[in-house]
Amino acid sequence: MRIDVLTLFPAACEPFFDASIIGRARRSGVVTIRCHDIRDYSSDPHKAVDDRPYGGGPGMVLMCQPVFDAVEAVEQEDPAPAERVLLTPQGERFDQRLAEELSRRQRLLLIAGHYEGFDERISLGLSPREVSIGDYVLSGGEAAAMVLVDAVVRLLPGVLGDAESIREESFSGMSQPQGTDAAAVGENPSVRWLEYPQYTRPRVFRGLAVPEVLISGDHASIRAWRQAEAARRTARRWPDLSP
Ligand code: 6GU
Repeated sequence: MRIDVLTLFPAACEPFFDASIIGRARRSGVVTIRCHDIRDYSSDPHKAVDDRPYGGGPGMVLMCQPVFDAVEAVEQEDPAPAERVLLTPQGERFDQRLAEELSRRQRLLLIAGHYEGFDERISLGLSPREVSIGDYVLSGGEAAAMVLVDAVVRLLPGVLGDAESIREESFSGMSQPQGTDAAAVGENPSVRWLEYPQYTRPRVFRGLAVPEVLISGDHASIRAWRQAEAARRTARRWPDLSP
């Protein structure tokens, strides 16, 4: 997969994409991520990328010219067609299902804006998919782009090592844990059970003991306990999952 990120702050994004699992995925060649500075595409003598809104009002608006030119130039760097994604609080909500859908694309082009907003013609003319990561307002789309890239890249084949992915899928082959509502979670193929609680040494820390079952050595009981805990958490913490 190739991911291009158009941003006014490439220096804010790059270290994140170099770290941890995403960095490892890049180095192994599973994903190519390129950050591009929208300002580099400004045709303004002062490299301006924003201007005051027509009709008045506070703040500045990201202009069409640098964004259109950046999108067109970056898309031409590679013949693979890109799914364009505009990060905006007005977009459709990003969730695991959308992460899985985007992980099946050959190429993504993310546009992270800043300032008070985008000139509406960016949306009208480039027809991007508009995506929001939640109901709160960020000062820019960069953090949202990082969230989206993280959630998508970890789904690419070969990105998670065996140990990581086996744990991830530890409940996918199980029957429906008891106590969960099938209509709420069981029919949504993109939803996995929330993780069961994990413990490591010591057996007692500040008076908090590891559940007895985990040190019982009884693997059937451990499995049943984990399944029940995962089901309980999924139902309590994620009651509103919809298929
Ligand atoms: Cl994608 N952008 C901004 N600026 N704020 C957000 C967001 C995106 N998603 C939630 N809040």
